[in-house]
Amino acid sequence: MSTEIQQGSAKAWGGRFASTPDKRLEAFNASVDFDVRFIREDLRGSVAHVRMLGRQGIIPVEDARTIEDGLWKVWDEVTAGEFALTIADEDVHTGAERRLRELIGPVTGKLHTGRSRNDQVATDFRLWTKDALLRLISGTLDLIDALLTVAGNNPDAIMPGYTHLQRAQPVLLAHHLLAYVEMFGRDVDRLKAALRRTDVLVLGSAAMAGATYPLDRESVARDLGFATISRNSMDGVSDRDFVLDALAAGAILMMHISRLSEEIIFWSSGEAKYLTLSDAFSTGSSIMPQKKNADVAELARGKTGRVYGNLMSLLTIMKGTPLTYNKDFQEDKEGLFDTVDTCLIVLDVVPPMLTTATFNTDRMAAAAVGDFILATDVADHLAKRGVPFREAHEVVGKLVGECSSRGIAFTDLTDEEWAEAHPLFAEQKPPLTALESVSARDVPGGTAPNRVRAARAAALEAAAEERAWLKGAQTRLANVMSRNSTGPGAG
Ligand code: ARG
Repeated sequence: MSTEIQQGSAKAWGGRFASTPDKRLEAFNASVDFDVRFIREDLRGSVAHVRMLGRQGIIPVEDARTIEDGLWKVWDEVTAGEFALTIADEDVHTGAERRLRELIGPVTGKLHTGRSRNDQVATDFRLWTKDALLRLISGTLDLIDALLTVAGNNPDAIMPGYTHLQRAQPVLLAHHLLAYVEMFGRDVDRLKAALRRTDVLVLGSAAMAGATYPLDRESVARDLGFATISRNSMDGVSDRDFVLDALAAGAILMMHISRLSEEIIFWSSGEAKYLTLSDAFSTGSSIMPQKKNADVAELARGKTGRVYGNLMSLLTIMKGTPLTYNKDFQEDKEGLFDTVDTCLIVLDVVPPMLTTATFNTDRMAAAAVGDFILATDVADHLAKRGVPFREAHEVVGKLVGECSSRGIAFTDLTDEEWAEAHPLFAEQKPPLTALESVSARDVPGGTAPNRVRAARAAALEAAAEERAWLKGAQTRLANVMSRNSTGPGAG
C-alpha cells in the first residue's frame, strides 16, 4: 500500500485546505453512489430554498429565478438520464450544485446562503422517506386486500386452530386470516406514525445553530409539503429518529410477514396439505422431480433477517453520537434503502401467492375434528349445566385419556360410555361437530361465522378508508415533486 499522497479533486469546502484530498479519502468519504437516489429531492429542496431567498430579499429575485430555472434544467437532465455524478462530486448535494454551476455560472454560489449540507441531507432524506413510507403503506394494503379476498372466497372453511402447534380448537379459516389483517392494520398505523414524524421541515437549521438570515421557514415547509417545521436547529440536523421509525415499522411488518410465511409453509407441507400453492408461485427441486416448494414464503421469512439487521445497525450507529451532525450519519441511508426495497419486493409477491393458492378445505375440515379438538366444547357443555369448569375439565381430560389409550375418538363412544363419564351426558350429548364448536364462539372477536362475516366487512371498510387517505397523501407529494410545482402559495 502506498504511503504517498495520491491527489484527488477540488472540493466545495476546499478553501481552507492547502492541498486536495487523497484519492483514498475521496473514495472512502463519498456517498454519491447511494445518495444519488434522492437527487430529485435534493433539486426540489434547492428550488424551495432559493425561491424563499428571493421572496425574502436575501438574494435578488432575478438571481433566484435564474437559479431556479437552472435547477429545473438539471432536473430535466436527470429525467433524460443525461446527468451522472462522479466520485469527485463527493455527495449528491455537491454534485447537483456542480452541474448547476456548469449550466448557469457563478450566480450558483448564491444558492447555498443560509443552509448547509446538514440541513440538505436531512431534508432530502425526509422527502424520500415520505414517499417510501407511502409506498410501503400501499403494499401493506395490497396484502390486507389479498387476505380479505381469500377469507371472502372461503367463508365457511373450518380448520384447526393451534397453540404450541398442537391442535387446540376449530376456527374458521377466515378468522385465522383476519388475525393477520389485524397485524397488518397495525403496521399501516405504525407506518403512518413514522410518516408523521418524518413530515418535518429541517431546512433553516443551517449547519446547527440556525441561520443569520431572515429565512421564512414556514413558507418553505408549505412549498415542500411538510406538515410542520423543526423547533430546534440542533435537533433538526442530527435527528435520525424518522429513519429509525421507518426501519422499526419495516422490521415489525416483516416479522408479521414472516409469521404468515411460516403458516403457508406448514399449510402447504405434505403433513398438513391444507393448501396447494399455484405453480406460478412455487418452485421445484433440481434433483427430486416430485418437489414443489414454498420458496416465496421461505424467502420472505429469510429476508426478515436483513431488515432486522438494518434497524440494529442504525441504532448502533446513533448511540454514540453527540450533538449535532456527525459523519457517522452518512451510514443511515443504505440500510433504509435496503429495508424499503426488501419490503416492497416481498409485498409485491406475497399477495398474489396467497390469492392464487387453493385451500384444501376438505383436509382442513377433517383435521378440525381430529385429536380431541372439541374437548373444550365437551367441558363447556358440562359447565353450562352447572358443573364447575375445573371439575368438567377433569372429567373430559379423563375421557380423552381413556379414548386415546383405546385408540378411538369421542364420536366412537356409546351412549352408555358417555353416561358413565358424567350423568349429564345421558340427558344430552355434547356438540361433536366443528361447526357447532365455531358457532358457539359468538362473542366480539370470536370465530362464530356471523362474527367473522362482520369482522371482514369492517376490515374491508377500514381498508377502503386507508386507501382514500393514501391516495390524497400520494397526490399531495406527487404535486410537490412535479416539474410544474409552482411554490408555497399564501400562508
Ligand atoms: N453525505 C453526507 C451525509 O450523508 C451529507 C452531509 C455532509 N455534511 C457534512 N458536514 N459533511 O450525511
